[in-house]
Amino acid sequence: MEESNLVFALNGQRVELKDVDPQTSLLNYIRDETDCKGPKRGCGEGGCGSCVVLLSKYDPGSKQVEEFTINSCLAPVCSIHGCAITTTEGLKQETEPHAVHTRLAGFHATQCGFCTPGMAVSIAASLRKCSRKTQHGGTIGQPTSVETENFISGNLCRCTGYRPILDACKSFAADVDIEDLGVNTFWKSSDEAHSEKSALRPYQPETDPQFPTFLKDYTGKPLHVTSGQLGDEKTWRSASTLPELFEIYQNESIEKKRDVQFVVGYTSSGFYKDFKPSVCIDISRIPELQCLVQTDSALEVGAAVSLSKLIEFLDDSRGPVFPQLADHLRMVASQHVRNRGSVGGNLIMTQKHGFASDVATILLGAGSRVTLASAEDSTVTDLEDFLAGQSPQTSILQSIHIPTWAKSENSSDRVFFRTYRSSPRSSGNAVSSINAAFLAVLQTSTPSGHEEPGSKVLHLRLAFGALGCPLPLRAGKTEKYLTGKVVSVGVLREAVRILREEIASSARDDKLHTAEYRESVGVGYLFQFFKPFITEVNLDNPPSYGSGVDAVSDGGPTHTFGNGNSTVVNGSVEKVPTRDGGPTENGAHRFANGNIAVENGSADKESEVRSFGRSAHKLDRREGFMGKQTFPVSNKFYPVAQPTGKIGAVLQATGEAVFVDDIPLPKGTLHAAFVSSRKALAKITSVNAAKALASPGAASFITVKDIPPNGQNAGKIDYFGGPPDKVFAEDFVGFVGHPLGVMVADTYEHAVQAAAKVEVEYDDTTLGPPILSLEEAAAKSSFKISKFAFLGSASVGDVLEKGDYRIENAEVYAGGQYQFYMEPQTALAVPDEDSCITVYSATQGPEFVQTSLGVALGIPLHNIRVITRRLGGAFGGKTTKSQQVAVACAWAAFKLKRPVRMTLDRNTDMEYCGGRHESKAKYTVEFNKDGKIMSLDTSVLMNGGFENNVMDEMGIFLVQSMKCYNWNSWRHVTKVCRTNLPDRGMMRAPGEIQGKFFAESIIEHVASFLGLDPTKVREVNLHTHESAKKFYGPVAAGPGEHFTPPKVWERLKGSSNFEVRKVSVQEFNQKNMWVKRGISIMSLLYPNMQYRRLGRVTVYGDGSVVVESGGTEMGQGLFTKVQQAAAYGLSRLWGENVDGQVPLSKIRIVQNDTISLGHGSITAGGITSEGTCEAVVNACNTLVDTLRPVLLELQSGTAESVSWEAVVKKAKMKSLPLSAQDQQRKFGSETQYIVCGAAVSEVEVDILTGGVRILQTDLLFDAGKSINPAVDIGQVEGAFVQGIGYYVTEEIKWDENGVLLTNGTWTYKPPTPDNIPHQFNVELLNSAGDPNRFLSAKGAGEPPLLLATSVHNAIRQAIKAARADVHQLQLLTNDGDSKEEKDRATSHFVMHSSATMEPVKKLCGLYNVDQYLEWLSRNKS
Ligand SMILES: Cc1cc2nc3c(=O)[nH]c(=O)nc-3n(C[C@H](O)[C@H](O)[C@H](O)COP(=O)(O)OP(=O)(O)OC[C@H]3O[C@@H](n4cnc5c(N)ncnc54)[C@H](O)[C@@H]3O)c2cc1C
Ligand code: FES
Ligand code: FES
Repeated sequence: MEESNLVFALNGQRVELKDVDPQTSLLNYIRDETDCKGPKRGCGEGGCGSCVVLLSKYDPGSKQVEEFTINSCLAPVCSIHGCAITTTEGLKQETEPHAVHTRLAGFHATQCGFCTPGMAVSIAASLRKCSRKTQHGGTIGQPTSVETENFISGNLCRCTGYRPILDACKSFAADVDIEDLGVNTFWKSSDEAHSEKSALRPYQPETDPQFPTFLKDYTGKPLHVTSGQLGDEKTWRSASTLPELFEIYQNESIEKKRDVQFVVGYTSSGFYKDFKPSVCIDISRIPELQCLVQTDSALEVGAAVSLSKLIEFLDDSRGPVFPQLADHLRMVASQHVRNRGSVGGNLIMTQKHGFASDVATILLGAGSRVTLASAEDSTVTDLEDFLAGQSPQTSILQSIHIPTWAKSENSSDRVFFRTYRSSPRSSGNAVSSINAAFLAVLQTSTPSGHEEPGSKVLHLRLAFGALGCPLPLRAGKTEKYLTGKVVSVGVLREAVRILREEIASSARDDKLHTAEYRESVGVGYLFQFFKPFITEVNLDNPPSYGSGVDAVSDGGPTHTFGNGNSTVVNGSVEKVPTRDGGPTENGAHRFANGNIAVENGSADKESEVRSFGRSAHKLDRREGFMGKQTFPVSNKFYPVAQPTGKIGAVLQATGEAVFVDDIPLPKGTLHAAFVSSRKALAKITSVNAAKALASPGAASFITVKDIPPNGQNAGKIDYFGGPPDKVFAEDFVGFVGHPLGVMVADTYEHAVQAAAKVEVEYDDTTLGPPILSLEEAAAKSSFKISKFAFLGSASVGDVLEKGDYRIENAEVYAGGQYQFYMEPQTALAVPDEDSCITVYSATQGPEFVQTSLGVALGIPLHNIRVITRRLGGAFGGKTTKSQQVAVACAWAAFKLKRPVRMTLDRNTDMEYCGGRHESKAKYTVEFNKDGKIMSLDTSVLMNGGFENNVMDEMGIFLVQSMKCYNWNSWRHVTKVCRTNLPDRGMMRAPGEIQGKFFAESIIEHVASFLGLDPTKVREVNLHTHESAKKFYGPVAAGPGEHFTPPKVWERLKGSSNFEVRKVSVQEFNQKNMWVKRGISIMSLLYPNMQYRRLGRVTVYGDGSVVVESGGTEMGQGLFTKVQQAAAYGLSRLWGENVDGQVPLSKIRIVQNDTISLGHGSITAGGITSEGTCEAVVNACNTLVDTLRPVLLELQSGTAESVSWEAVVKKAKMKSLPLSAQDQQRKFGSETQYIVCGAAVSEVEVDILTGGVRILQTDLLFDAGKSINPAVDIGQVEGAFVQGIGYYVTEEIKWDENGVLLTNGTWTYKPPTPDNIPHQFNVELLNSAGDPNRFLSAKGAGEPPLLLATSVHNAIRQAIKAARADVHQLQLLTNDGDSKEEKDRATSHFVMHSSATMEPVKKLCGLYNVDQYLEWLSRNKS
């Protein structure tokens, strides 16, 4: 009997729904229909993990409750019939946070907090699982430290850089040394006596939410739900048996002729978003599709078995292929997707849609077969044939049979099965750019007679997938060639040649990768597979190491490489010297008296140095990630300079922190979605919204015609006096994604659906072709004209001086980057009486939004209230585009006189918001033979996109950044190009990272030209105090005794053990052909300056305090620092050096509100905290002056100490003013200063795939006197990892029509824990006092991003080593090459900013395997 009501439990509460739209996602249901806002809408496509919830369901057979995490954005609400859902709110025990919540808060593992609810559920669910079963030798009930690193493998965090989240996870591990964990609020430092586990609240599984018993009645009951308008109904049905399924299918598809889709996990909806079938038939409960049976010959896997279940089963199965299959499957998607996604669903996606599947490839490699069932019969066929054909409409994939490949007992044949995948993240959630699975039956004994000794191939299967063509394939010709042969260098060389041809005939270029890259990596896989079976030579030795016959590999992989599972045969990793050797036993440099060894005489007596974490003994993945944080703590201005916990961190973890999209909506709120251009440059000939307005829930379509009479089409206002940037296109569109209007509807989903139905006609013949590149813009002189042309130019020295050598007109390219704040752009506009409006905006600049709204609506600013409580990350991206979103929303609200909310979906956000300016530098440099640069002449083109957005600022930032070396004399010009791409905006270190990259590239170029060590060239060009004055001016350079860069350099060189490690790297490279290492040290100089900041402090009668500031909280810890500053400022009532008379708990920092505190300006540049803290302390000073007579009066009457509350009470009775507002005393050019720091990074590059693993990074950052070192450590690490993303994982690509190809989590890859340094050491420096800044603090939010350039430099060194091998091979195989040619080839090469896998592989050589085998063949013959 089918049920018509959907029943489930949400956080223990029964939910019963009738008439629910079957395609409503669980996430949208929870967020839109309940008060539970923990699960966040970060991407809506399974790629970020911010929506993760725990699903529990009862299995009546085993009488067990099964539990796993899912992406609620991918699960239709109907699919959870009979299940219990737990969100982060549900983890709480009444009002008590869960242990996971407190650990995340205590380890400083939240910044903006948008990812945190998803993280909390993922960690809690993993702990729960471990409490039932612990694998790999962990203590029963507790995971091992390495296991905990996988807890968050499906969750993105854009703020923290992951290290603190990993530490929070590890704090639950059985085998962790508690003092090895990172900075936290539970104990004071690693060597504190009380750094024990008892400080941590334990995880208690027994307190976890239990499965509601009432749900057991619904287990397995089929559901039949239909809803929607007549003729457009949507139906959900579930089948319990195969006959029932065919009956439903017959009824819905054959008889009613409705489009029907079978559904198991529905995870394919993350990729194929547009397909919304009329009928979904849930087949996940059919027993035949859930079978998992192993016989002697095969494993039979039901098609609806989830990938996670299959992995568990394979782990417990025996045979040569199963463990490898399990290992590979662990890298498919994320744990949350694998928990729901089925094996069969994956194969059908591959068969029907050509999905770039791993599952299909590895099952093909393993020789699998499939069973198809129809109402009449069932058939068994090879997977290969199944994939290549079309299953009949009426049949279903029932099961998959994987042969065991068990050999007979006496056989000397051995079965080898290996799988490979190339992807930017080794733990998954990144589809592979190529994958493969090879199975060989080899006769490995030495035969008698005339045959060669070695391994003879008896049977071979070579499967490749994700080649850019629709289906995985077998390399039949290569298989044929190799079968029957004994594997030798010559045989392998010929096999490689054949395989190249085979892959080349099928592989294709696609959005992200070229066919030639795929071909080269595929050949590398074959080489890797057979390498261990070649006994005549050691195929890991580079040509320069000798003929390689002295050492022989023993086969079998010993080390899983970071990017994919390519293998490094023994010796390479194991024999690397340990990384220690620094000044202390664990590599950190500490000083007996606790002061920092920068001899600036400023480290105050009250300071102590605290240290957390430890260094790894070896840079080996198996040891897990290690981090070490060292920082000064001062008591002088208590509680300022203390590493206190972040305000609201627990609220963020429990999901109670309210973001704009979480605000409970006023009655009648409508939802808006942009209607955007699909052309890059075209006239708009017609816009027809009739169909869209007829679609369900549609209310109105707002365009330029709806702008109020006094308003303007204005989004971002140009504060330099130019015209504002428009929000809506008027007569023509200027880029793909250009908004034409907003569609407004009753729900978010309806708004998005209706927006897609607006019909727009264009004429793209009259305006000429769009300008899509810097080169096209330059050729057409399409430059943005700034009123301040000088902002983009610079000169130092009267003439460009000559040097011994000159490099002329060289070019290098720095790519773009998308901010990827986890909370997309959002605003809620609520119209009010008398033409007033309140807008809740996720913006970095509420005042700027207010100004834009004033112009756009044509109303005075006092009618406009903009409220910003917190942002889910911003990174510069919510400085200007947030204004456009707020304006569009407000126009709709004004016209319709109803509240309107607009939250961009991830794809629209990426398409619209533009990101960082990609740029190209041209340079001519003169230098002497020691590397000293005498002059530099640079011109830079920046791609500014369509509107003017931040064009003036970019030149300034780029120029400032390029001053980081002493060029002696310098001429520079920047031009910002106008193109038909979305206008680029601010992004953390805007223009600065490009400038730094160009500067470092020039240094590297000079070093290569001269054949010098780049470190030497850096050192001769580092700034002295004198040269810094010349380049930055005397104010920024400060007094000589405060100029720390040279000391920072020397100190890091010593503490990181740089010189010793450099030698180790060289030795490693001499012995290893296919893995190369590189190490680089780099300095940072980053000029900053203060802008005016405001603060207001109000004391209430009970002694509680509210602080308002202009600064917004977006995760950078501003509110936390401001709270500390206010506590310090008010405690000064008792004089200096008095410990916290006004505790932090008395002080609340409240949301920004432009009507309450105007002129708040914008929060950007990583400098707002210092200024705001000073403004707040100044306001406190006024209050202290008011309160001091009261204190004295009270003290005079008693010998007891007088409390804060008593003083306030008395002051209130006297009607004294208890509120004060103030600002900084100094700002503008007189507050210029230089932030400095240095980085050492060591990397390992997989020469066969181009994958990069960061082995170790040591950062030394001069934070001045840090207001909160824990917050600043978080900023340093988070910014650095974002910089890693810029160089190593993130790449923006457009097609030839200006369409963004990398518009979501499928194609755009911010870093995950896979990409961070395995050993990550960060030290903050307590440098000299500066009277111009609040307690001498320096901004830490942006500069550390530039330090990631050290990773790029190190990769370049590794590539150099690889290229030297390739050239050696060329020399050895081609006698004609001269020494000069060799030198030229191994010296300079142009390396653009993108060091993602494909460019790295290309620089290492696409043909190095072929060349190597060619050389060996000749050598041997
Ligand atoms: C974020 C993300 C990352 C991913 N990364 C990877 C990756 O790296 N490598 C990889 O290989 N895969 C990857 N995947 C794909 C993932 O493995 C599949 O989405 C999943 O296995 C599909 O299973 P499902 O049960 O959810 O299928 P559904 O979405 O329920 O169904 C998919 C299709 O199969 C049909 N179907 C399902 N079962 C049957 C059946 N028994 N008979 C006939 N038709 C059927 C459905 O009608 C539908 O057309 C990723 C997916 C996501 C969301
Ligand atoms: S919102 Fe579900 S994974 Fe991103
Ligand atoms: S704290 Fe993780 S995304 Fe902001």
